[in-house]
Amino acid sequence: MEPISLFQNKHIVLGIAGGIAVYKVADLASKLTQAGAQVDCVLTESATKFVAPLTFAAVTGRAALTDADLWRHDLHVPHVSLGESADLIIIAPATANTLAKLAHGQADNLLTVTTLAARCPVVIVPAMDGGMWSNAATQANVATLRSRGIRVIGPAIGRMASGLSGEGRMVEPMDILGFIRVVLAEGGSLAGRKLVVTAGGTHEAIDPVRFIGNRSSGKQGFAIAQAAIDRGARVTLIAGATALATPFGAERIDVESAQEMRDKVIEACRDADTLIMAAAVADFQSAHTADQKIKKTKDTVEFEIKLVRTPDILQAVKEQRDRIEKPKVVIGFAAETQNLIDNARAKLTSKGLDLIAANDVSATDAGFAVDTNRVTLLDAGGGVEPLPIMSKVQVAERVLDRMAALLG
Ligand code: PMT
Repeated sequence: MEPISLFQNKHIVLGIAGGIAVYKVADLASKLTQAGAQVDCVLTESATKFVAPLTFAAVTGRAALTDADLWRHDLHVPHVSLGESADLIIIAPATANTLAKLAHGQADNLLTVTTLAARCPVVIVPAMDGGMWSNAATQANVATLRSRGIRVIGPAIGRMASGLSGEGRMVEPMDILGFIRVVLAEGGSLAGRKLVVTAGGTHEAIDPVRFIGNRSSGKQGFAIAQAAIDRGARVTLIAGATALATPFGAERIDVESAQEMRDKVIEACRDADTLIMAAAVADFQSAHTADQKIKKTKDTVEFEIKLVRTPDILQAVKEQRDRIEKPKVVIGFAAETQNLIDNARAKLTSKGLDLIAANDVSATDAGFAVDTNRVTLLDAGGGVEPLPIMSKVQVAERVLDRMAALLG
């Protein structure tokens, strides 16, 4: 996992109570550490029955703490120092017993006493048998915790350790990570801003089973959406064809054709601060879409499809922006195989953009489907900023830096 800017210099206390989901939390501890956070794991006595503290120490590179550490004379009030220095406390899995203790301010182990002493946001991730979860006592405890500002994610519905199915499964580590990102990003540099981001390729139907498409995977656009969420923005992600999971916190709108993308972009841009068009939109569509599958006959050797232009989305945005002055900043991408800078600058001017990322898609390590990209940022004032090869996540950060400067 690539380091994530949001997690740099962040201290996270990961509280682990005793449930079978503990084995999955080792993966969460590892992911948080790889993302760049300093992770201190605090295990309850029963958690240590499921997985040894050594596992958490190994994946975080830091001592995993248990109740015995509460009484060590070489650690000065560890619960207070942990609770005071943490940027976030996350308790996963949070058992019915630990939820009950937290709701009543009981502080009889290192995890509950640390949470009581904390001044940072607290996230709890319940996991337990379905009957325990739906019990009125647990529900009342969770309601109490929510009313005090504690965030709750899950539980999910599915198969539990008992073999029964129902609501009680711990949410998967990647979703917990996404939730944590949203909580940590609150009050970030883009808080209060709305961004519209497009990603992936459009599909232009020929008949019910065939389409004209392109090689876009959506990786660059999704990286931009996630990076904006990490800065606290509200993000509407308009996605064409892509297999990628939605970044936690994004409002995702799936579209198929250029026309559909145009309609959704125009609507979403009415109250947006910024539009970033990273999608690969088809320039042509079939003049006619057949209602039924086009059949070949034994004599068919050639078949012609007449193509017509798709709507130019950025052109439509420009016209709307001239009328309503929204979005304030519009950024495009230019996928080019030749005359990169000249072609990109022509698009910057004709589409009325503030910034364009000129993308040489003929290189094997840049452009479609790969994890890296190499772009040159051209602005409306004539500025040219060539960027070296970097991950699409890093490109996203650089584009957002420029966007933030344009937004002012
Ligand atoms: O998705 P990945 O696999 O990560 O790949 C990323 C990418 C290569 C798709 C991305 O970095 C990129 O370059 N996106 C723009 C692709 C493209 O359509 O470029 P273009 O030069 O054809 O279009 C210029 C701009 O006009 C783009 O912002 C495009 O979204 C927009 N456009 C294009 C056609 C159209 N009908 N309407 C538009 O608004």
